[in-house]
Amino acid sequence: MKLIHDVAAMQQTMLQLKREGRRIAFVPTMGFLHEGHASLMREGRQRGDILVLSIFVNPAQFGPHEDLERYPRNLEGDCALAEGCGVDIVFAPRAAGMYPPGFQTSVALGPLTEPLCGASRPGHFNGVAVVVTKLFGIVQPDVALFGRKDYQQLAIIRQMTCDLNLPVEIVGMPIVREPDGLARSSRNSYLTAEQRQQALCLYRALQAVRELFAQGEDTIERLLAAARTQIEAVPAAAIEYLELRDNTTLQPVDRATNKTLLALAVKIGTTRLIDNTVLGEAL
Ligand code: PAF
Repeated sequence: MKLIHDVAAMQQTMLQLKREGRRIAFVPTMGFLHEGHASLMREGRQRGDILVLSIFVNPAQFGPHEDLERYPRNLEGDCALAEGCGVDIVFAPRAAGMYPPGFQTSVALGPLTEPLCGASRPGHFNGVAVVVTKLFGIVQPDVALFGRKDYQQLAIIRQMTCDLNLPVEIVGMPIVREPDGLARSSRNSYLTAEQRQQALCLYRALQAVRELFAQGEDTIERLLAAARTQIEAVPAAAIEYLELRDNTTLQPVDRATNKTLLALAVKIGTTRLIDNTVLGEAL
């Protein structure tokens, strides 16, 4: 497995592999890899001749008061996990290489960015869109894999890739959960043992809504109330958003259907966690 830090060297390597006719599968990450990332890498291994993993804590997608500085990092551990998953090349650029002096370009996004995380993290998805576009330009993947835990991010990347005719197939992979239901996330490492237990209220909220919906309830207010009850039972949990929306447009819906997305962001202490489910799909 190769580890490349330099942007130009990475692009040259990838150009050469493309010239040789290799099919490139790509898993973009911010590192501190866990089983969720491993599922993306294993799937990527099946879908390409060459599997590339990027590790880059992208400053452009963090707001001024967010956790850029304390975001967990472990390049050595990540490389070991990546190698075990069959990664051929790890691309770990430096911020100065990705955003050299004079960098000034952005990607204008549309209404998909407005609700949910976009409302509470202004500029976040622009930062994501810029770095993903840059990574696609450097890595030139045929297929790129993203987790569905970041549901809105995946929707925006799909739309952007389609709108800008980027020649990359986007694959969304199921959320990977701990045995007790907590969605795997690098940010789970911020949680104390007590908070780790409290964080289960997100999963319970998803389950409560799914159960009620399965019993025939489709009223938005009643379904959301069931989720809110689960979260409010944990005094340390603060809801940032809790919403039922159309799973494609992310617009509000009048009644819940199989295609309705339940998405939530909840703070446990200072740690912000997100989770989601589409009511007609497996949890
Ligand atoms: O989902 C992530 O880890 C990041 O947002 C991504 C897609 C790697 C862009 O920095």
